[in-house]
Amino acid sequence: MQAPDSVETLISEMSLAEKIGQLNLLSAGEGLATGAAGESALEARLAEGQVGAVFGTKSLSTARAMQEAALAGSRLKIPLFFAEDVIHGHRTVFPLPLALACSWDMALIEETAAFAAAEAASEGLHQVYAPMIDVARDPRWGRVAESPGEDALLASRIAAAVTSGFQGDDFAGPGRVAACLKHFVAYGATQSGRDYDNASLAWEDLLGLYLPPFAAGIAAGAASVMVAFNAVNKLPMHAHEPLIEGWLRGRAGFEGLVVSDYTGIKELTSHGLGDAATVVARALHAGVDMDMLGEDYLRHLPGLAETGLRDPDCGLSITAAEIVALIDRACRRVLSFKARLGLLDDPFRGLTGTPAAPARKAGRALARRAAARSAVLLKNEGVLPLNPDSRIALIGPLADDRANMLGTWSISGDARDVVPLDQAVAELTGRRPKVVLGANLVAEPWLVKRLNVHGITVEPDPRSEAELLDEAVAAARAADVAIAAVGEAREQAGESASLLCADLPAPQRRLVARLAETGTPLVVVVFAGRPLALGDVARAADALIYAWHGGIAGPEGVADLIFGRTEPSGRLAVTLPAAPGEVPLSYADEPTGRPARGRFEKFRTGWLDLPDNAPRFPFGYGLGYGTVRYGPPQLSAEVAQIGERVRLTVDLSNSGRRAATETVQLYLSDPVARITRPGRLLADFRQITLAPGESRRVAFEITADMLFYPVAPSLEEVDWVLEPGLIRLHVGPNSRDTQTVELTWVA
Ligand code: BGC
Repeated sequence: MQAPDSVETLISEMSLAEKIGQLNLLSAGEGLATGAAGESALEARLAEGQVGAVFGTKSLSTARAMQEAALAGSRLKIPLFFAEDVIHGHRTVFPLPLALACSWDMALIEETAAFAAAEAASEGLHQVYAPMIDVARDPRWGRVAESPGEDALLASRIAAAVTSGFQGDDFAGPGRVAACLKHFVAYGATQSGRDYDNASLAWEDLLGLYLPPFAAGIAAGAASVMVAFNAVNKLPMHAHEPLIEGWLRGRAGFEGLVVSDYTGIKELTSHGLGDAATVVARALHAGVDMDMLGEDYLRHLPGLAETGLRDPDCGLSITAAEIVALIDRACRRVLSFKARLGLLDDPFRGLTGTPAAPARKAGRALARRAAARSAVLLKNEGVLPLNPDSRIALIGPLADDRANMLGTWSISGDARDVVPLDQAVAELTGRRPKVVLGANLVAEPWLVKRLNVHGITVEPDPRSEAELLDEAVAAARAADVAIAAVGEAREQAGESASLLCADLPAPQRRLVARLAETGTPLVVVVFAGRPLALGDVARAADALIYAWHGGIAGPEGVADLIFGRTEPSGRLAVTLPAAPGEVPLSYADEPTGRPARGRFEKFRTGWLDLPDNAPRFPFGYGLGYGTVRYGPPQLSAEVAQIGERVRLTVDLSNSGRRAATETVQLYLSDPVARITRPGRLLADFRQITLAPGESRRVAFEITADMLFYPVAPSLEEVDWVLEPGLIRLHVGPNSRDTQTVELTWVA
């Protein structure tokens, strides 16, 4: 993209120091510190015209004051832009991104993003650090909470929906903000699920799984991208020229702004890429335009612009003139971003005359609907929906919780906005349920301390576990139905919250087991940030709802499902592991030469210590209250020319007594290919609502290009292959329980 004239004029008038100042991205100092910040005196930097943008302002008046300071300090009156982490809502906190992904409802996801954008814009924010579109298949990784789940197609649709929700047709328009796709790339493929760790993976995985959501976000017009902390195939992303300048800009055609992650440039030194000056040259050369918080560009670019860099150790030799040209390139991108935001015409755009935030009441209603759509009903042995007249015992550490419900990265949310589950139940039944703790969230005092690092959300009851359990058992015995509200604390998932073992904490597992022994029907509701292995918990429950951390109206959304005020329709966007050690995993795993057949067999792929009857909840899985039946899928042709369109139809009927929203899923598999391919891959899905007794036909269009796959000995030698031959199409309510038809493509 050609930079606008206003940008070229500015560049021609700017000194080198002024250009470098534009690359400096600082924190307002009012938010979360997620890395080792150097000492940065924002005020002094603003006065020197040495800041390009600020993130983390908490009000319109602060942003305005900072803009005034920036303009006063800038000889050419170049304004700042303001950014913030708006990950799943802003003041109105919606369910976690992973939870929203489970709605499979792109219109709803777009609506939540648009609402968040309007709230953020009303506070003078121009850019949000979202959507986070890192495909994630390892539940140990805490940031799975922010992710769109395990599948490239679902993640790609979400990337596009959130981008459109934030940006609308014009991200400079009223109530809109610029999206920032993150984290580029393969942050979710981190070794052992340990946050910040590196990823070594086949180029085919990168191209087929981790890059497509970025391509989709770019196609939807995303204005910026944030680089990931991790290395990909040995090269840390902040220095990954082949992926940033090569793939992102060269192949995917991205023309916007690339920002570093928090001190990500500085961290290249810890990655072993060289001293501070060397890593600055490498990051700039790789295409990282702005330096978040580290101030290393500010410190080292002036010197590098005089000397260049000749560092035999890092394999980068770059002249002073080349450094100057790279500074110009980065500065041009920052200024072009500001121009697109309208800030070069009006430095107070978004800061004065800003439309007010949308009504909180509308946000609450949307948050409640989103929470009900995001929760996944996993099991229901005739218990749900509950009769509001039943005597209910509400038991568990999250029964009356507010703060943990917000989930990770809810930095602008307020726990007082949460209506806890006990109140939500009381509202729908007309009386307060009996509420008892039953178990502490976690038992270990040192872990409690770690979970309370950003404010107290876990306050253990000092009574003994036996005492808590006895009280819970007595409450369950005296009730018609027990609801166990269990799960994770807010800080148990999210950044820097990797777990060794992704299962429900032990005291809560023991609670569920004891409640099940009472014989009182047991509804288990799991509020968590990650897909936990439920194992015996799933077996013990008569009904099981995976409610994630659902935001301000999470518990109300769950109550709506429990009492049948809303029909459950969520479908898992990640497979739940059957046991905590069964990770990473995905429905789309490639078959081995000795494929598993659903039970343990000696000398076949599988786990020796996993019982054959372990409850399994695969990708795409979820129940409703209706009874939906699928007829046999029909193809318009069984043999087709590559280039032709084939129609697959399937008839669905709801023979139940309640409405059902069904997500009809289509998977493809390519049984013979040049390389081993995923066992099946999601190719499309449709969501329909069927009234009781209603039947509908759902149609999918199949084209051979759905089957392109990469063969890539390196990032530069990629062959996208499409071959004639047999493919299988699997249709059904989830990735496992499908019916299959075959189609042959001929050349
Ligand atoms: C996270 C980013 C976030 C940034 C700014 C980092 O620690 O990785 O996702 O946008 O902080 O808050």
